[in-house]
Amino acid sequence: MNVDDITRVAVLGAGSMGHGIAEVAALAGYEVALRDIDEDLVQDGYENIEWSVEKLAEKDRLDEDPEVVLDRITPLVDLEAAVGDADVVIEAVPEVMDIKTEVYGSLEEYAPDRAIFATNTSSLSITDLSEMTDRPEQFCGMHFFNPPVRMQLVEVITGKHTSEETLETVEALAESFDKTSIRVRKDSPGFVVNRILTPLLNEACWAVNEGGADIRTVDSTGKYDIGIPMGPFELADRVGNDVAHHVLEYLNSELGEAYEPCPLLTEKIDEGKFGEKTGEGWYDHDEGVEIPAD
Ligand code: 3HC
Repeated sequence: MNVDDITRVAVLGAGSMGHGIAEVAALAGYEVALRDIDEDLVQDGYENIEWSVEKLAEKDRLDEDPEVVLDRITPLVDLEAAVGDADVVIEAVPEVMDIKTEVYGSLEEYAPDRAIFATNTSSLSITDLSEMTDRPEQFCGMHFFNPPVRMQLVEVITGKHTSEETLETVEALAESFDKTSIRVRKDSPGFVVNRILTPLLNEACWAVNEGGADIRTVDSTGKYDIGIPMGPFELADRVGNDVAHHVLEYLNSELGEAYEPCPLLTEKIDEGKFGEKTGEGWYDHDEGVEIPAD
C-alpha cells in the first residue's frame, strides 16, 4: 500500500500513548478510530485528546479549530467497527503477551487484507508479534514517544518478515504526521531509544538507592548539566514507571544483569505509583512535591 491510499487509521488502546497517537493522526487529517475495551477507558482517552487540542490552540500550535480535529476521531469499544475499514492499525495496548495475542487474533478476523499493522510496543520483539498474524510482511514497529503530540521522533522498526514496501509506507505515514522517523534495522531489545533511555532512568534510581543524592538533585543534574529537557525522575513519572520497569525487565531477560531494575523502581510498581497517570510516582502530582525515596 502507498501512503496516498491511507485515509483511515485505527488506534487500539486509548491509554497514555494510544490517545496521543490518535490525536497526532487526527491532526494530520486522517479519519481515526480510537478503540479500547470499555466505555470509560475510551472516554478517558478522548477527554485527554480534548484537553490536549485545547492546550495546543491556547499555545497557538493549532492551525484549525479544535472541534474540527476532534470530529475526525471516533471513540469505540467494538473492535470490528474500529478496524473493519482501516488502512493502518496502530496497536498501543498493554505490554502483556496474552493481551497482544488476543488482540492480534481478533484483528486478523476483522481488519481488511490491505491493512498494515504497526505496533507501538516499547520493547517486545516485532518478529514475535508479527508471527501472531497472517501478514508478518505487512507488520512493523511504529514507536512514538510521550507525549506523542510534542515529541518529534518515531522509530520505525523492521521485523524479520517486514517488507521494504511496508517500511517505506510507514515511514511516509510518520512524515505525513509531521514526525521525523528513524529506521531501526534490527529487531533488538529496546530498539534504539529505550536501549539508551531506560538504563538512564534506572541508573538515576541506583544513584538515589545508594545514597549519593536525592531525587530532586538528580533531576536538577539531568536538566541543568546533562541537558535533557526533564530530569530522569520527572521523565519516569511522565512515561510511567510501569512502562520503564517493563522495558528494563525485558532488557534484563534478553541482555543480562546490567539492566536489572533498581529495587526502588520495583517498589514503586508494587505500590502502584506509576507516575502522572496514577497521581503519584517519584512526585506527588496533585501537590507538586517530591516523595522522599526513604
Ligand atoms: N498536549 C498539549 N500540550 C501539552 C501536552 C500534550 N500532550 N503535554 C504538555 N503540554 C503542555 C503543558 O501543559 C505546558 O502548558 P502550560 O505551560 O500551560 O502548563 C506546555 O505544553 C509546555 O510546553 P513548553 O514547550 O513550554 O515546555 P517544554 O519546552 O518543557 O516542552 C516537553 C515540554 C516537550 C514535554 C519537554 O519537556 C520534553 O521534551 N520532555 C521530554 C519528554 C521525553 O523525553 N519523552 C520521551 C520519553 S520515552 C518514551 O516515551 C518511550 C517509551 O517507550 C518509554
